[in-house]
Amino acid sequence: MTLLILMPGKENSELLKALKTLNPNLDIRIWPEVGDVNDISFAIVWNHPKGELKNYPNLKVIASFGAGVDHIFKDPDLPKNIAITKLVDDSLSGQMCEYVAGVILNQRLRLTEYREYQAASVWAPKAFKSGNNVSLLGLGHIGKEVAEYLVQLNFKVSGWSQSKKDIKNVTTFYGQSALKQAVHDADYIVCLLPLTPKTENILNKSLFSMAKKGAYLINAGRGGQLNEDDLLDALSEEKLSGACLDVFKVEPLPKEHPFWCHPKIYITPHSASMTNIKKAASQFYDNYLNMKNGETLFHQIDPDREY
Ligand code: GLV
Repeated sequence: MTLLILMPGKENSELLKALKTLNPNLDIRIWPEVGDVNDISFAIVWNHPKGELKNYPNLKVIASFGAGVDHIFKDPDLPKNIAITKLVDDSLSGQMCEYVAGVILNQRLRLTEYREYQAASVWAPKAFKSGNNVSLLGLGHIGKEVAEYLVQLNFKVSGWSQSKKDIKNVTTFYGQSALKQAVHDADYIVCLLPLTPKTENILNKSLFSMAKKGAYLINAGRGGQLNEDDLLDALSEEKLSGACLDVFKVEPLPKEHPFWCHPKIYITPHSASMTNIKKAASQFYDNYLNMKNGETLFHQIDPDREY
């Protein structure tokens, strides 16, 4: 019952140390030094090389190192009938609450705008930006926490998800046909959706045309959800007033990408919500024990929905 850390390009030593602290006797291998492939039953993965996971005949659990599992489903050779789990933890949702609120408040308080005035030594007081309607796309564990956080900050919050959700003081919509209702009155549209075949390119021309003129877009879901050309058009046609993007189709965002120097685009480097290693290690270890004891896994995802 060996555990494999399969995260090319990521620093593994902290995770290894945290797992060893939980149980010094754990047999842990770090890819590519996998030893006998038959030993591996539990793999912690992040952006694994496609096809790699089919090399382990006794693999029982694939555990995502993040909240998202889209990186796992990108693999066309993903072995079937192996449980897939995601990370669910309050520090991930807590960071996202602060990120989304911070971006919205930055806009509302015109902090970036004043920074530009400052550069030109201009004194130009203005009222806060009006409009406090926020529409959240995605009401999973993280989306729900963000919705509740924004309600506490007195924003008027609505939310949209694939299936029906009820959240106190949040107007909720679900299903494709309700997307227009969900965004049409929003001053801020915030995407926190999982990336699945149903949400790919959901932030597109059609959605932007349903939105209120001048809405501000925040994408902290996945880059694959945004049609980049449609965003550039919506910004130049002033359908949207600006966008803050944390995730991109290609990461790191290539140096020559037009988003880097766009005056209406704010970029953060996929840093909105980062995995807390100690909490992640204990969640992996709990699930490793559940697997070993034949018990129900925590946070197992539905492979048909891909989230
Ligand atoms: C980050 O994007 C994650 O999936 O946790």
